[in-house]
Parts: sequence; C-alpha cells; structure tokens
Amino acid sequence: MSDNLTLPAQQGSTGASTEALLTVEGLTKHFPIYGGFPIKRKVGAVQAVDDVDLTVGVGESVGLVGESGCGKSTTGRLITRLLEPTGGKITYAGQDITHASRRQMASVRSEIQMIFQDPYSSLNPRQTVGTIIKSPMEVNGIDPAGGREKKVRELLELVGLNPEHYNRFPHEFSGGQRQRIGVARALALNPKLIVADEPVSALDVSIQAQVVNLLQKVQEELGIAFLFIAHDLAVVRHFSQRVAVMYLGKVVEVGDRDSIYNRPRHPYTHALLSAVPEVAMDDETENRERIRLAGDVPSPIMPPSGCRFRTRCWKAQDKCATEEPPLLQISGNREGHLTACHFPEDPSTEARTEDVVLDPALKALEDVEKD
Ligand SMILES: Nc1ncnc2c1ncn2[C@@H]1O[C@H](COP(=O)(O)OP(=O)(O)O)[C@@H](O)[C@H]1O
Ligand code: SF4
Ligand SMILES: [Mg+2]
Repeated sequence: MSDNLTLPAQQGSTGASTEALLTVEGLTKHFPIYGGFPIKRKVGAVQAVDDVDLTVGVGESVGLVGESGCGKSTTGRLITRLLEPTGGKITYAGQDITHASRRQMASVRSEIQMIFQDPYSSLNPRQTVGTIIKSPMEVNGIDPAGGREKKVRELLELVGLNPEHYNRFPHEFSGGQRQRIGVARALALNPKLIVADEPVSALDVSIQAQVVNLLQKVQEELGIAFLFIAHDLAVVRHFSQRVAVMYLGKVVEVGDRDSIYNRPRHPYTHALLSAVPEVAMDDETENRERIRLAGDVPSPIMPPSGCRFRTRCWKAQDKCATEEPPLLQISGNREGHLTACHFPEDPSTEARTEDVVLDPALKALEDVEKD
C-alpha cells in the first residue's frame, strides 16, 4: 500500500513552498438587497463571498471547487477586479490592488486575465477571430515584435487552431474551438495569472479533456499561474496542484491535490468526492462509500449560524450551530492542508456506512431495490 506521505513533495504543492503571486485575505463580497416603498432602502445582503483567504503561487495551478451558488465566480470576478470587494485585501505581486483604480490597475490588468464559462456569449459574433484576439493588444497599446497580426497567428497555432482562420467569425467554429479562441485572447498580453471560470463546463464531455489538456500545456510551458474554477472535482484533479473547496461563500478546506483527494477531512469535501465516480487514484480509495448530499445549498442571504454546512452535515452537533469552525491545519493534516470543521473525518480514506446520507429520492429507489 503506497503512502502518500513518503512521496517527495510536489513542486508548488503547498502554498508555503512557492513564491506567492496572488494573496487574498478576508475577501468579502455582499451584494445589497433593496426593498421598501416609496423609499428604497437596503433590507439585506447576499453574502456571496465571506472572509476568504487564498494564495496562488507563481506558475501554480489552484482549483476552486464547490456547488453552484457557493461564490466561486464572484471570487474570480473580485480577483480580476471586475467587481469591487466589500472587504478584505487582494495583493498581486506584492502590490495592494484591492481598490486600485482603472489607471492604477493598468500595468497589472494585462497580467491577470479571465477565461469565461460560455464560449458562445463571451466572443463578439460580429468580430473576426483576428480582431477578437488582437483587441486586448490594441486596448493596452502593445506592439509585439513582428506586429499584432503575426502574434495572433502564433497564438492561434499555440492553441491548436489554423492560423489561416484569422478572418473567420466565431459562429464558424465549434464550442471547443471557440473556447480555444478565448484562451488565445487571454494569452495575447502574456499574462502571469489566468482565472478560468468553469472553462469546460459548457462543452461536450468528449471535448472537455482536450481543452483541459490545452490549458495544462499553457500552464506548464508558459509558466502561467491558474485559478481554475469548477463545480466538479474530477476536472480539477487533472489540472491543479492545490485545491480549495468552497461552500456558501467560505473556503472550508484547502490543501495539495493528494491530501484533498486521498485524505479529505471536511465532510463537504468528502461528499463532493463521493459524487465523482472515477476519482479512485489508487487502491486505497476504491472502498470509498458514496455519500449523497441531501437538499440544496441554503440561501446566502441568511446563511446558517456557526458552520454554514451544518444543515446538510450528517455529523453536526450543537457546537456546529453556535461556533464557526476556523480554517486550520488540524491534527493529522499534512503541511498546508487546512480544514474548517469541529468534527472532521478520520484521516483515512473511507467514509463509514453510517455517515452516508442519501437523497430522499435516491433512498426510496434503493429501498425498492432491496425489497
Ligand atoms: N450581481 C449579483 N447580485 C446579487 N447577487 C449575486 C450577484 N452575483 C452573484 N450573486 C449571488 O451570489 C451567490 C454566489 O454566486 P456565484 O459567485 O455566481 O456562485 P458560483 O459561481 O459558485 O455558482 C449566488 O447566490 C448568486 O445568486
Ligand atoms: S463543523 Fe459540524 S456541521 Fe460543520 S462540517 Fe464539521 S461536523 Fe459538519
Ligand atoms: Mg459560477
């Protein structure tokens, strides 16, 4: 039985060993809700992102995972400064960019790029591929050696598209090819960090691996750091050196890939892994019990007190409702593996049968099968 602890540490596998490119501390975004008549006033807030700490090292790929509505896209948009944070601090290459103005951001803006989920709506249908990829260079006044058109052709080749298709329009390409155009556009300014927000979720499963491979190639060959957002741990597993798991606006667990996949300590991470059928990395994980999460993510307008996961957690006790569990390196965790839970899972790979909570509909099905 191989023990991961005896393996040499992966380069950049823990935040501590790599030079930080991006550091996020206490990052918070509350979207105000207005109501009342005739005078509208603030009546509440969507707590989309709440007190998130995150680090991405130079050239490192970090996965950010959680169910829909957990605040992943908002986090990505805060980091790329498409949204203004309510609180917290964002440091990029040693520079505080939390509230940097457009002008102050100019030098940094080209270094942080975003790839969006939907390759259909994120490309202007009236512009040729050449124009789409060229425009970030125009906006930022960048003239590469040999000219912009030459650079665009090189980028098309790099992402696996025919440079001769420079004058074609987005509708002439398939979904996977369009996402390659999005990648080429993100690369046009030689970024150091790319926030990729579910870049393959909208693509056919058969195409997903190709685009993930392309991003992996880009990350490795060009040394670009990635924050790779996904709702699925399977996609992130192939790509990320470290993984952060988000639930209802909070990071609940973070660690290097092997720790997260083979030694999950937070019940939510465990449940997410259970939803991934092909996750087994070695013999140890094959016995993992399937856990089905019952119900939906609660509303971020009135998140549960204490631990936000407690309304769906099969291990919840009184303390979970009164005390918020801090994100810590709990006993049994490897260096850099942090977990926010009062009653964490054993540092073994298997969930116990009694931990398995079935979705009511699934449970009914299984009961019928048993009879
Ligand atoms: N502009 C906005 N105004 C109000 N609420 C928002 C806005 N953007 C996102 N939200 C809410 O914030 C929460 C987190 O959303 P999001 O970051 O998109 O999650 P994810 O990407 O993990 O699915 C959701 O409840 C969503 O409805
Ligand atoms: S703190 Fe309590 S409710 Fe939250 S995940 Fe841990 S056991 Fe479950
Ligand atoms: Mg999203």
